[in-house]
This record gives sequence, C-alpha cells and structure tokens, in this order.
Amino acid sequence: MGERRSRRACVFAVAALVLHAVALGRGEESRSSGGGGGLLDARRLEKFVDELPDMPRLRGYGVAEGGRIVAGNLTIGMYDTTWKFHRDLPHTRVFAYGTSKEAATVPGPTIEAMQGVPTYVTWTNHLPARHFLPWDRTLAAASPGTGGVPTVVHLHGGVQHSTSDGHSLAWFTAGLASTGPHFSPPPYAYPNRQPPGNLWYHDHAMGLTRVNILAGLAGAYRVSSPAEEGPLNLPSGAALDRNLVLFDRDFRASDGSLFMNATGNNPDVHPQWQPEYFGGVVCVNGKAWPFLRVARRRYRFRILNASNARFFRLALSAGLRFVHVASDSVYLPAPVDTARFLLAPSEIADVVVDFASATSDTAVLTDDAPAPYPGDNNVETIAVMKFVIEADGRSSSEHDDDPSRVPARLMPQYPRPDPKEASLTRRITMYEYTKNGTDEPTHLYLNARAYTDPVTETPAEGSTELWDVINLTDDNHPLHVHLAVFAVLEQRSLRGLDKFKDCMVRRNDAGACGVERHLAGGRRHDAPRQERGWKNVFKVRPGAVTRLLVRFKPLAESRFDFDVTTGPGYVYHCHVSVLPAPTSSLLWDLVLLINLRFMPQILDHEDNEMMRPMKIVRSSIDKMQ
Ligand SMILES: *[C@@H]1O[C@H](CO)[C@@H](O)[C@H](O)[C@H]1NC(C)=O
Ligand SMILES: *[C@@H]1O[C@H](CO)[C@@H](O)[C@H](O)[C@H]1NC(C)=O
Ligand SMILES: *[C@@H]1O[C@H](CO)[C@@H](O)[C@H](O)[C@H]1NC(C)=O
Ligand SMILES: *[C@@H]1O[C@H](CO)[C@@H](O)[C@H](O)[C@H]1NC(C)=O
Ligand SMILES: *[C@@H]1O[C@H](CO)[C@@H](O)[C@H](O)[C@H]1NC(C)=O
Repeated sequence: MGERRSRRACVFAVAALVLHAVALGRGEESRSSGGGGGLLDARRLEKFVDELPDMPRLRGYGVAEGGRIVAGNLTIGMYDTTWKFHRDLPHTRVFAYGTSKEAATVPGPTIEAMQGVPTYVTWTNHLPARHFLPWDRTLAAASPGTGGVPTVVHLHGGVQHSTSDGHSLAWFTAGLASTGPHFSPPPYAYPNRQPPGNLWYHDHAMGLTRVNILAGLAGAYRVSSPAEEGPLNLPSGAALDRNLVLFDRDFRASDGSLFMNATGNNPDVHPQWQPEYFGGVVCVNGKAWPFLRVARRRYRFRILNASNARFFRLALSAGLRFVHVASDSVYLPAPVDTARFLLAPSEIADVVVDFASATSDTAVLTDDAPAPYPGDNNVETIAVMKFVIEADGRSSSEHDDDPSRVPARLMPQYPRPDPKEASLTRRITMYEYTKNGTDEPTHLYLNARAYTDPVTETPAEGSTELWDVINLTDDNHPLHVHLAVFAVLEQRSLRGLDKFKDCMVRRNDAGACGVERHLAGGRRHDAPRQERGWKNVFKVRPGAVTRLLVRFKPLAESRFDFDVTTGPGYVYHCHVSVLPAPTSSLLWDLVLLINLRFMPQILDHEDNEMMRPMKIVRSSIDKMQ
C-alpha cells in the first residue's frame, strides 16, 4: 500500500500554551495538571539547533498493475508515546498519529491524496485509560463510561459524507470499548473529489479537541492533481514543496513535559497581560525553532497554523517575500505577493519563497502578531525558524537553473463568488458570556444557542447562502464551516456598537435591533488580497458584520457525489476556543443578562466550543420529484 516514509519538514510555531491553558482552566474546575514545577524559560532553549524534520508521507492512493491509480487504504493509529521537541529537551510524552507506535510523530504523517481517488483511513485509538493533560470529565461531553481517551478525526477542509466527517459526538476510545452517540464504524472515506489543495486532520472529540490537539493529534493532508504539475510548474517534490505545521507549546522546567495550566482563574494570569505568553516555544514540524538548509531557488511552503490560539503575523528577513498561490484548501486565481501576512489558527497559507533574491545567507521567519490578536500592546517579534541559504558563490540573479516558476494565472477556472446566486440570508451572531462575580466560566455561543440545542441551520444541498456573521466578542475565533467553502464579500463595522450589543443581549434578533441602521455609514474593511478566494476559515472582525457567500456544493460540480443529507450532519464553529478575559464592563453585564435569560443551565453543561450543528437537506426541487 503506497506508503513511503521520508524525512519531511516538521514545522512548529510556538503557540500560546499558556493562553490555552488558562482558557481551559476557566472553563473547568480548578485543578492543576499535576507534576508541579514551573515553566521552562523558553529563552534557555538555543534556537536553530534542530533540523526541520519532514513528517513521514503516506500515499493515500495505490498504484495497480499498469500504473493505474486506485483507492488507497491506510490505517493510522493514535499512540501514547514520546517526541523530542528540541535537542536539549528530554523525550516528552505526547499522543501522536502514526502507522505504528514507533513511527508516530508530532505532527502526524502527511497524507498525500490524489484528486478524484478515494482514500480510506481506519483511524485506531491506542490511547491509555487516562489523559496525561488536564481534562475534567464532568465538563467534557465525550464521557466514556469505561475510561479511555475519546478521539475522533476531522479532516479539515475535506468534502466527505458526515459519517466520515469526524462529528464531535462520533468519538471512540481504545479498542472501541466506548463510542459516542454518532459513532460510525471505520474506515472513514475521503472521496477527494475536490480541488487540489491543503487540508489538515486533527482530533475533534467533544470537549477534548483542544486538549487532544495540544497532546499532538494533528497532521497535514494534501490533495494533489496532475493538473498542477505541468501547467503550474510550481516548486515540487519532497525537497522543494514542504509542509510547515506551526504551533506553540510550553514545557515544565523540571522534566520537559508538556504544560497545560488548568488553574487559570486568577485574573493576574490572563495571558493578555503576561509577557510569558510570548515566551512559549514555537515549533515547526514538531521542533522548537528549527532550521532548514535551502538552495538559492524557489521553494513552496504550505504553512498551517495548528496552534490553539496564537495568531502568527509572518515575515521573512533578508528581503524575502511570500507569493501566495492558495489560501486554505483552494488555489487562488492569480498569485498574490506580500511581505507579511496574518495566519489565524487552522488557516493555511500556501506560499512560494524565492531564496535566490535573499540579501544574506540566512533568513529568519518571524512572527510579530500580538497575542491575543488583535490586542495592541505586547507586540514582540519572535523567531519561528531559520533558513540557512546555501552559499554557492553565484550572484543572486543567477538562478536560471531553477526550472520552477509562479505563473501569472493559477486556477482561474473556479466560479467567481456571485451574491446573486444566494437563495437566502442568515444571520449568525457570536456571543461571549462570562459568569458574573468570578471570571469563570466564559461561554462562547453562536446565536445564543448551545451546541446541543436543536439544529437551526439547514441549508439545501446545491444551494448558496449569504451568511452575515456578527461578531460581538472581543477575541479572535476564526470561523470554519464543515463541508462548505465560502468567500468573504464584505466586512462592515457596526456604528453605535454598545447600543446594538445591549439590544442583542436582550432580544437576540439582529433585525429587530436595527442591524441595517447600525451598519449605515459603518467603515468597510477589505479582506487581504490573498484571502479573497474560496476559503474554509475566516477571521471575522469584532464589532462588525462579515458577509460570507457560503457554497453548499462542490466548487467544480453542482452536486456532491454522496448523500450529504444523511448521517449525523455537519457543524460550523469557531476553530479555536480561546476564552478571553472580560475586557469591558459591558461583557460583565452581558453575562448576567444572558445567564438569566437564555441559559440558566450553562454552568453545568458548558460548551466552550462555539459550535453549532448544521444539517444539509434536499433542495425543494428534489422533494417535489
Ligand atoms: C483499497 O481498498 C479498496 C476497496 O476495498 C480496493 O478497491 C483497493 O484496491 C484497495 N487499494 C489498495 C492499494 O490495495
Ligand atoms: C497556573 O495557574 C495558576 C492559577 O492561575 C497560577 O497560580 C500558576 O502560577 C500557573 N502556573 C504556571 C506554571 O504558570
Ligand atoms: C495561529 O493561530 C493562532 C490562533 O488564532 C494565532 O494566535 C497564531 O498567531 C496563528 N499562527 C500563525 C503562524 O498564523
Ligand atoms: C455581578 O458583578 C457586579 C460587578 O462585579 C456586582 O456588582 C454584582 O453584584 C454581581 N451580581 C451578582 C448577581 O453576583
Ligand atoms: C471576533 O472578533 C474577535 C476580536 O478580534 C476575534 O478575536 C475573533 O476571532 C472574531 N471571531 C471570528 C469568528 O473571527
């Protein structure tokens, strides 16, 4: 079964574990993750001493006799193992994906799928009875009666039947001893009938997603197409086309174990105000601040932000720039050149960097985004990784032997977003509630509804809808819609925001609260050029209405090739659940009112996932037939 292991770049960006931890702690009862000991001072780890690993690559298709490409069958397990994050750190306990315990890596192997050729994956859970990171079972909806760590895999950006979508209640524990209410038996089927592009897979178990990803359960997935190779001629091959998976982590000084603080209910440790927030360890492909040797030529990097909360504003030294060729899972119509860009959690940038134009023999990839984005203080530039550029004695203009290029047109054939196609407009409001009196727990809700409330979003298959996403929260939670792709049409700030919020808290009805009136004359914000294509994650501005054109059909076809209306259904959610500190008195009021009016039960049934179910239905035309 075409599975090939090569050393591949493992890129980790240091992410805000502290923020993560504090966030989690505020949603849980106070409990330390055990082990004690302070945090490792990240400055004590020497930078750029580990080479960027290449994660093992697993081919998601087979080659039959005569070179015929056939469906691929993979078995990927989740293992309790260790990973070396840095030369000077001991082996650190992780949960990792791999074809065996010995082969398991953090991040997991890169799955290489072929457009139009199905990949079947049997995901197996070999995790122990207890999690090694803090997890309060009384709050996690995934609560196996038998012990064990619930897991379920979601292929982010994948267009697949909902029984293979990794529904958060489709979780299972080791040996399938215990399964969630929406469990589907293996294997998961990924049809890969979608445009070539970048996806990633990660754990999605209800209430445990953040903890399981933090433990190491995430990896890259590519859909390739022969249509890319000749016509585009972008840098290709294992050495020149690399995945960089960024995340940040904190470690205990005592034993190098992963640190997650579950006792974060002290306002003094809100990560917004902690310089340590930036003191975390940025990992690329599982190594802290790695380096990569490159030649003076073009390379392609598919950069995934797999951190839980950290936004990266990435830039390169040595005069280098990024040429974006795709965003998330879809190629752009034409390349977009930037000196720096912002990558939200779970967003993917697909860029070409031409090291031939470097003004020195090293280049450092840096991040200078404030945390939490978009706070305006504590901006600090931190290194992510270093490129050591081969000194070949040639001048930077002599790189004629680089046969790759970035063509002026990439994939212009995808339909252009056309609002006239939309059959209806929905308003999706993001709220943030904080319990009065203490700053725990904080609740992030969509349309003032909990995940477990009955489904209200039932788009018809084949339809296109306008979603006006109203962000009334103070922190960045990139929105992700399963199955669909969307395009950002417009973002406009609300005027008289306090008044609007106040009304929304009472009525939860944007129309009745005069959203149109509040939008009149509001400032327009253009999406960055590289984010104007079809996407599956978007950073929705605070205090604004973001109009998305959401497409419930494939990009290249009018129908899905499977029955999208059956199975447990899909979800839309904010990808990362960073629970911000309440920053204004308004929020405190919000809390009180909301708690009283909408959700007296939330203290017991908390769901900080900011997630809602979505059920695709047959179009009315089908129903009449
Ligand atoms: C994978 O499984 C499918 C369906 O069982 C089969 O048709 C295909 O040949 C298998 N692929 C390989 C490479 O064995
Ligand atoms: C974890 O959080 C607690 C309570 O907020 C705090 O006192 C403690 O210092 C934190 N631990 C570390 C290592 O940051
Ligand atoms: C990853 O996403 C997190 C969460 O939004 C964000 O804080 C961080 O800056 C992002 N990292 C990159 C490299 O974009
Ligand atoms: C809520 O918090 C405010 C401000 O801290 C306080 O004045 C008020 O008494 C609290 N209300 C309740 C019900 O605890
Ligand atoms: C809502 O606005 C906040 C504040 O910037 C931001 O952090 C958050 O990500 C936004 N929500 C979404 C879904 O982008």
